[in-house]
Amino acid sequence: MFKITVADSERQFECAPDDTIMRAALRAGVGVPYECNVGSCGTCKIELVSGEVVSNWPEAPALTERDRGRKRILGCQSRPTGDCTVKARLSDQYLGSGCRPQQFKATLTACRDVTHDIREFRFRLDVPVHFLPGQYALLYFPDVNGPRAYSMSNISQDDGSWHFQIKRVPGGSGTGTLFDKIRTGDTLMMDGPYGLAYLRTDSPRDIVCIAGGSGLAPVMSIARGVAADPSMASRKLHFFYGGRGPRDICGEDMLRELPGFGERFFFHSIISMPELDTERQWAGRIGFVHDMALEVLGKTLPEHEIYFAGPPAMAQAVQRMLMQEKVPGGQVHYDAFY
Ligand SMILES: Cc1cc2nc3c(=O)[nH]c(=O)nc-3n(C[C@H](O)[C@H](O)[C@H](O)COP(=O)(O)OP(=O)(O)OC[C@H]3O[C@@H](n4cnc5c(N)ncnc54)[C@H](O)[C@@H]3O)c2cc1C
Ligand code: FES
Repeated sequence: MFKITVADSERQFECAPDDTIMRAALRAGVGVPYECNVGSCGTCKIELVSGEVVSNWPEAPALTERDRGRKRILGCQSRPTGDCTVKARLSDQYLGSGCRPQQFKATLTACRDVTHDIREFRFRLDVPVHFLPGQYALLYFPDVNGPRAYSMSNISQDDGSWHFQIKRVPGGSGTGTLFDKIRTGDTLMMDGPYGLAYLRTDSPRDIVCIAGGSGLAPVMSIARGVAADPSMASRKLHFFYGGRGPRDICGEDMLRELPGFGERFFFHSIISMPELDTERQWAGRIGFVHDMALEVLGKTLPEHEIYFAGPPAMAQAVQRMLMQEKVPGGQVHYDAFY
């Protein structure tokens, strides 16, 4: 174990040689900034004051030449090779949920197809680790560089079940391995929970969930969390899901299982590419999911607590729409997908 000191603060924590500074800090209850955990967003940049580190991914897109010149490193990718001192802006908001991340083994117990390219993978941990609705984990696949981040779609269970709904990415090395090589009974290393877009049970507002494609899992977990929490029994929840064609649309069957579907849980779906509806089976809305949320809720949007997830283009469009509608930033919760 190496000792990591945060300059200008009283905080020190230990980091194993194979752990990263950011993850070790969160495990120790030290609130360092982060978001994606996979080298893409840059939120975890810190300054290395003394000591040395090696990067798990030296070419990570979030680190620029300018950062390197200023001795800035990505906390989520940097492993110490000895004791280090770093400069970081600490905040307890990054500890958010109170569920400290841990590394553990998990066994694949079942999978099922949700759509033509989204599959649900159900894992069971040897010892239960708790998470909040909307959080994510890092999954390590054999012979794939770096972990991949995936949001849990269920809610925390005492039996250690962690479910994921994962979209196959054409040519992707992580999803390629998971879909084609990992079989029921196989064991993977995981690390979690992470993520700040978790369900705010203390908010009195009704809820809006917006998702497209790969963003199904975290908002499904939010909806399930609302249904399971007696203190939220009076909240309404609108669930908006967008896909390109009819075969991409999913989630309604899972939402229908929640008590109160049609009374306080509402499902709305939309496709953006009607030309993919070759069998002319789609009688629903056509357009983008963020426009549909605005159309359905109109000027009441700022009265809601909003959770969203999906591919970068969709996430940016949702953010723009929420800003235009003057939804207060504190009511908007998402972890960007990369
Ligand atoms: C917070 C978060 C939550 C997510 N939740 C979901 C979800 O619930 N469902 C879902 O389908 N997708 C989710 N994603 C997207 C998912 O993590 C993957 O990006 C996606 O599945 C593509 O993986 P791939 O390996 O198939 O593709 P690839 O193109 O092989 O890899 C894509 C990603 O892998 C990482 N990567 C690539 N090369 C390296 C390297 N050398 N070292 C380290 N890392 C590397 C990068 O983050 C890159 O964006 C989430 C992403 C984030 C950040
Ligand atoms: S780059 Fe490290 S948390 Fe996103």
